[in-house]
Amino acid sequence: MAAIVPAAGCGARTGLNQNKILAPICGQPLLSWTLRAINEAAPRLRNMGIELTQILIAAREEERESLHPFIPHHSSFIVLVPGGETRQQSVANAARKADADFLLVHDAARPLVSIDLIERVTQAALQSGAAIAALPASDTIKIARKEGGVAVVGSTPSRSDVWLAQTPQIFRRELFLRALEYAERENFQGTDCASLVENIGENVVLVRGEIENFKVTFAEDLVRAQTILKACLTARENALN
Ligand code: CTP
Ligand code: MG
Repeated sequence: MAAIVPAAGCGARTGLNQNKILAPICGQPLLSWTLRAINEAAPRLRNMGIELTQILIAAREEERESLHPFIPHHSSFIVLVPGGETRQQSVANAARKADADFLLVHDAARPLVSIDLIERVTQAALQSGAAIAALPASDTIKIARKEGGVAVVGSTPSRSDVWLAQTPQIFRRELFLRALEYAERENFQGTDCASLVENIGENVVLVRGEIENFKVTFAEDLVRAQTILKACLTARENALN
């Protein structure tokens, strides 16, 4: 299995003057915590008979240098690929370079993913070919439409049918590349990878995600991530002592 980590956004919604994936959390850039979480899952995946053979990071050209301190130069395990204009293009660049039967796509901006969640989504994807982490919605979702320039409620789906997509999203590589080619032919842009697979009529299994696995999107999310991470690190230290 190859892990793909899209990191080539600009993090506009955080309002910082740098890409959020480089923002420091507990003394290290956000991206390094995400990479650490993926690395820590490798032994558990090995126990399932899955070898994590590559991590492909889609990065902006001008940020490659900043990433080097935490990516060993000699490593062939970590590969930097050029980011694209959209998340979909960033993932596509990595997917086409990946050399593995399965692709695990995980946002650089989700540093708090657990080993357990990676394991559960992997298990489901091995069986079905496509599986994603998602949280059952706790709020009622409104589908909006515009009327006279104002957003009004168009419809209200049954809450029990609504899930909020997270990553990891894991696919058989052949299936994902087929979905990607179709999307590119049809000029379809999805905000997650699963939507491309859905578009070619294939099932994507939903695996219950985790609240802590939120995507750092706004500045306050960085503070929340740091608070949770600090607590995890302290708990780990206490367990060792
Ligand atoms: N991403 C990417 N290439 C892009 C856009 C986004 O690799 N062209 C990555 C981001 O770096 C992030 C993940 O996709 O890790 C999820 O996207 P999002 O949270 O939207 O991040 P940004 O696009 O960076 O943030 P914003 O939309 O606020 O600018
Ligand atoms: Mg974005």
